Amino acid sequence: MNIHVKQDEAAKECRLDDMKQGILGRDVSRPDGLPKVTGTAPYAAEYKIDGCLEGVIVTSTIVKGEVTNIDASSVLDMPGVEAVIDDPRLTARAAQGTAGEAPAQPARKVGYFGQPVAVVVARTFEEARDAAKHLKIEYRVEDDAIVDPEEADAEAQGDGTKMGDLAEAMNSARHSVDVVITTEGHNSAPMEPHAAIAEWDGDKLTVHASLQMLNYNISELADSLDLDEEKIRLIARYVGGGFGSKLGVSEETVAACVAAMELQRPVRVVMSRQQVFQCVMRRSETRQRLRLAADEDGKLIGFGHEARVSNLPGEEFAEPVLQSSEFLYRGENRLLELEVARIHRMTAGSVRAPGEAVGMPALEAAMDMLAEKVGIDPVELRLRNIPERHPAKDLPFTDHSLAECLTKGAEAFGWDKGPRKPMQKREGEWWIGTGMASAARVHNVSEAKARVTLKADGTALVETDMTDIGTGTYAILTQLAGEMLGLPVDKVLVDLGDTNHPRGPGSGGSWGAASIGSAVFVACEAVRKQVAEKAGVSENELSLSDGRVMNGATLTDLLDGADISAEGHYEPGAISEDYTASGFGAFFAEVRVNRYTGETRVNRMLGSFGFGRVLNAKTARSQCLGGVTWSIGLALTEGLKFDPRDGHLANCDLAEYHVPVNRDVPEVEILLLDGRDPLASAIQAKGVGELGMCGGAAAIANAIYNACGARVLDYPMTPDRVI
Ligand code: MOS
Repeated sequence: MNIHVKQDEAAKECRLDDMKQGILGRDVSRPDGLPKVTGTAPYAAEYKIDGCLEGVIVTSTIVKGEVTNIDASSVLDMPGVEAVIDDPRLTARAAQGTAGEAPAQPARKVGYFGQPVAVVVARTFEEARDAAKHLKIEYRVEDDAIVDPEEADAEAQGDGTKMGDLAEAMNSARHSVDVVITTEGHNSAPMEPHAAIAEWDGDKLTVHASLQMLNYNISELADSLDLDEEKIRLIARYVGGGFGSKLGVSEETVAACVAAMELQRPVRVVMSRQQVFQCVMRRSETRQRLRLAADEDGKLIGFGHEARVSNLPGEEFAEPVLQSSEFLYRGENRLLELEVARIHRMTAGSVRAPGEAVGMPALEAAMDMLAEKVGIDPVELRLRNIPERHPAKDLPFTDHSLAECLTKGAEAFGWDKGPRKPMQKREGEWWIGTGMASAARVHNVSEAKARVTLKADGTALVETDMTDIGTGTYAILTQLAGEMLGLPVDKVLVDLGDTNHPRGPGSGGSWGAASIGSAVFVACEAVRKQVAEKAGVSENELSLSDGRVMNGATLTDLLDGADISAEGHYEPGAISEDYTASGFGAFFAEVRVNRYTGETRVNRMLGSFGFGRVLNAKTARSQCLGGVTWSIGLALTEGLKFDPRDGHLANCDLAEYHVPVNRDVPEVEILLLDGRDPLASAIQAKGVGELGMCGGAAAIANAIYNACGARVLDYPMTPDRVI
């Protein structure tokens, strides 16, 4: 039995609140937690496969030009070496978001320093790595590379938003802010480096890979390899973080496949940490001009946000910096424009909350400046500027929790106690200050399919190719099925990450939980319908709990040896166009800034978040904690440093590129405002994955100003910039 539900139809009511199990929403631990921490959960590179060869990727040492010769004979006599593969498919990987189209980067052309050009295959990893270092490659160098985004031509991305007359609003405003704020490039920095093993299994190419979106990755791979999708099986049961870098297929997966196809042997390719940094993707640096024009009460009459980002020539992706600026605050005179500079640095793509992660910290720092000029509390400034409807598109919101997040967050943090003037509090050599910022992250749903089987033995099985990239997918799907089918969590098995299963939405853009959760929910509805028929009651009367029907017969008795199965299919609907849907939140931070060194330490942080139904209090909180941690990184430590001569990434490992570690992250308090957004998804939940890093860096920046009076306009706010 299959059931197909569109977002519009499912929106009105939700059975989940009538369920009596009390499993959903609770802080259920991850079923995948124990295998992960005990090392028994296999990650992509860890499958033991007999006779598996090892491939090591070789990357370009020029920034722009063409590979003219790869001299395989320079390494073929080295110990263990089996082959040098310089198949053009390696360099021609489709750009993110362009599966099915011509590859953006043509074969054998080199467009950036560190671009993969070949793979050396040997019996052991060490032999392959040694040979890769000795491989002789000749290039024809083109000397017209531009690696500095400020020196490059830029083109407009989309039409932007133009309403009224911003310049006039700025002239006539009682209070205004006109400021340029920059952010540096970022690496997604997942714990697990990119890795893949490809092997032929009969006439199917079976690929163990570390990927976020198998439903999409299988098409990308089919395109890259010129192979039918039916011939490929992708498996990614455990993924050690992705943060955008595994949304699309990267060279290690293509390389493993090409090598396995050519050599007819299993081949594993694992990127080094340096390669993950140098050639997977980067978040673009940004330069953003904010113009805010307000009346005497601080109400915005003009709102301008113009941003410049960069990418390789021909790539479609542009960091969507203005995403939440479109709807977060009022202002009838609006100008929003995004432009892309074309430069020869590695591909820019989605990294941890693409858009809002960098757009919000700039906007929210500008809002802090405006609050100071108007002379009102920054929380109050935000409250006064929450629009009734989308200010440009005039669309209603599905629900709106910003005001609640601001007020509840402020109260829990003790915001009122902090001085609002800078340089009021000092302890020894440390200035102490507090700052706040709003959070917003657009909510999307994506098409999703899942199969739910209620087994004759009284257990349930959920199958989909959806991934769990560390977000808690295994846990929430277990809870959803348990709640709907009246089974304790240990009777539910969730099987993810295999393209032999119905196709899920993949993990990205924070759409995963709401989308695949909705598909599992509608599949459970269909299973319940069949159970009700067997039990001779109506669907609404049916009560299932603790493996029993109507507190009487066990499910096992009722099923009498026959499984009941249903496939749920959930699709976005008109709601996506007729409404504005977003998660909201607020951040509060207390920092200390060293008066002699300019070093900033975060003393404490609080985030309050509203995103509809909380599916699992523990995993949702963990997502928010992760987001706040990334906010600290964005504010204080993270930034890609490119060599101005050749665009060579200089800090390409975790020793040189500083993500926050335990010592950098203080006690962080998370308030989850459990709610229901009946329009957002069938399960009334919205995305939360990335919300925690959408604006948090500005709470720290504003706290630095409040502490020591330094208004730093460039993220990250390293000591040299603060002092
Ligand atoms: Mo996310 S950066 O869309 O995986």
